[in-house]
Amino acid sequence: MQILQARDYNEMSELAAKRVIDQIKSSPQTTLGLATGATPLGIYQRLVEDSRKNGTSYRQVSTFNLDEYVGLSPEHPNSYRYYMDQNLFSGLDIDKARTHLPDGMAEDLEQECIQYEEKLKKAGGIDIQLLGLGRNGHIGFNEPGTPFSSRTHVVELDDSTRQANRRFFDSLDEVPTRAITMGIASIMEAREILLLVSGDKKADILHRLLEEEVVESLPASVLKRHPQVTLIAEEPLLSGH
Ligand code: GLP
Repeated sequence: MQILQARDYNEMSELAAKRVIDQIKSSPQTTLGLATGATPLGIYQRLVEDSRKNGTSYRQVSTFNLDEYVGLSPEHPNSYRYYMDQNLFSGLDIDKARTHLPDGMAEDLEQECIQYEEKLKKAGGIDIQLLGLGRNGHIGFNEPGTPFSSRTHVVELDDSTRQANRRFFDSLDEVPTRAITMGIASIMEAREILLLVSGDKKADILHRLLEEEVVESLPASVLKRHPQVTLIAEEPLLSGH
């Protein structure tokens, strides 16, 4: 795992956005793996700004998001589809038909998971995957204990994850209890991964990630087995490593 120290959130966003923009310029048909949450917002803002200013085109880019809540429609302000439309897609010339998220409203969720994997495969896999880090070490919504062999699946969210994401909802009751997430094996097939870590609340889990063995109780630890991972983290979080 290559480690890049960023001075602060802005520099972390800048470094990651630059990597994505360089990739799209050199390979316009790139497939991006995208994440939600607070961490990637600065990156998305920069991608939109760059596209406006410098004309970087996303017409041939495809995207696959890591996860989506079960039971929230695309119009629901807390759905990840809504987040992506608002924070990224609406600011780019991307073809909406090439943007993919699991459908959390699907009648047959198991079938939806199978189809999502098929779409990913058909697209030729992910070139660059952006990843945030959950406070309990989750990636996507793969909670501690998820088998490293997992593919896209339905998960019961940990109480701690629902608490952590409660800040985006009016009350804890409104935070869905289930989600669809790409599995750990699906994530590991990306050709390159950018793991982004920012904020004091991530200090403990980042220390654990850097110190501990590769174990299923710490999902992000699997990334140490991937040949092309760059961890971009704020410098204070990396002190002592
Ligand atoms: C959420 C998402 C993850 C995200 C993580 C960190 O629950 N499912 O994809 O990376 O938790 O979120 P944040 O960036 O807001 O800390």
